[in-house]
Amino acid sequence: MRREKTQVGIIGAGPAGLMLSHLLARTGIESVVVERRSREYIEKRVRAGVLEQGTVNLMRETGLGARLDREGLVHRGISLRFEGTDHRIAFDELTGGSTITVYGQQEVVKDLIAARIAAGARLHFEVEDASVHEIGSSTPRLRYTVRDEEVEVECDFIAGCDGFHGVSRDAIPVDRLTRYEREYPFGWVGILASVAPSSEELIYSSHERGFALLSMRSPVLTRLYVQCHRSDTIEDWPDERIWEELHLRLETDDGFALAEGPVVEKTIAWMHSVVTEPMQFGRLFLAGDAAHIVPATGAKGLNLAVADVRVLAGALDAWYRTGSTAALASYSATCLRRVWRAQHFSYWMTTMLHRFPGDDAFQRKLQLAQLRWVASSRDAAASLAENYVGMVRV
Ligand code: APR
Ligand code: PHB
Repeated sequence: MRREKTQVGIIGAGPAGLMLSHLLARTGIESVVVERRSREYIEKRVRAGVLEQGTVNLMRETGLGARLDREGLVHRGISLRFEGTDHRIAFDELTGGSTITVYGQQEVVKDLIAARIAAGARLHFEVEDASVHEIGSSTPRLRYTVRDEEVEVECDFIAGCDGFHGVSRDAIPVDRLTRYEREYPFGWVGILASVAPSSEELIYSSHERGFALLSMRSPVLTRLYVQCHRSDTIEDWPDERIWEELHLRLETDDGFALAEGPVVEKTIAWMHSVVTEPMQFGRLFLAGDAAHIVPATGAKGLNLAVADVRVLAGALDAWYRTGSTAALASYSATCLRRVWRAQHFSYWMTTMLHRFPGDDAFQRKLQLAQLRWVASSRDAAASLAENYVGMVRV
């Protein structure tokens, strides 16, 4: 077995792991990142696409702003569509100037990988059997296999950034963790279509037939979603059915026309909320999807992952500079305040916009009353806006 050392061992090269490695390097802290998939795979994986103002600011402040500023689409609002009409939520006016930026998660990942490689980072793709050991000691170990060679890395700390299906969370004794969970009885079929978006801003549509979302990735790529049943499979949703539902659910009284184009990607994802507490044990710290997932309706997953590692990088920097354990000790509590705010917002958006199986006419009336209130009250709209752009202080 080959033996190595580093300061921070990181499992997972998603936004959380890569951004952590990037932030640590800026304060002179060495890390090793190990990723199960190939570089090509993670650079192509289509995931989220909305960056909060704070995520954009962090990318700019840390030298990752060039392509984001060129290619990212700054949005100053979104539309809530119901009863055939659009109701615009003007983020900038309601939040004192904040906006969101549409820039695919895989673009963030590409920028981070390029920056880490240019800086000579120890970043290993296609590793197998990553595992963490002795997290209760002052020298936790990260083990993995790469091209049939076993490697053990002795670390000061380990960051579990290996997403919802990763292995690091399971290294924490089960009686020390509490899992909070909510499964929604539906999912989203998502497509990426080669066609100019039919709207300049995102449209969240609440329709009797179910929810639909029009989003985008670029001036020539539209991202669209339709709510589907929990029991559906991708085979239940041929392209024609998706377009048909999109046309019906996005219809307006003034003749909105949805442009169709070749479908270049199709996925199905379930709406699910999970939080594991605490997000740390000994010298293992969980960040991003490894610790919590949110339904996509609030567009928070990627932004929460970035917010976690920003806190973690600061706490590790304080430990290396001054020996203080205070910020590390409160890592979980600090992150969880934001996580639960995002959970509530995502739940609120999800329940306001989707049709639940078994909902009766009364329930739909309540939903519409709620939507009309958000669309017409400045205070209600402002609360959506400040949560969406991520400017809430909790
Ligand atoms: N060993 C090594 N790598 C692993 C392992 C393992 N056992 N298990 C998972 N990974 C890798 C995955 O292949 C993935 O690249 O960890 C990475 C985790 O990345 P993400 O799933 O992107 O999670 P995170 O970085 O927390 O970012 C959260 O991702 O799912 C979206 O919507 C979510 O936008 C949010 C973001
Ligand atoms: C996306 O573009 O993928 C997207 C946008 C907004 C959401 C969820 C997903 O709420």
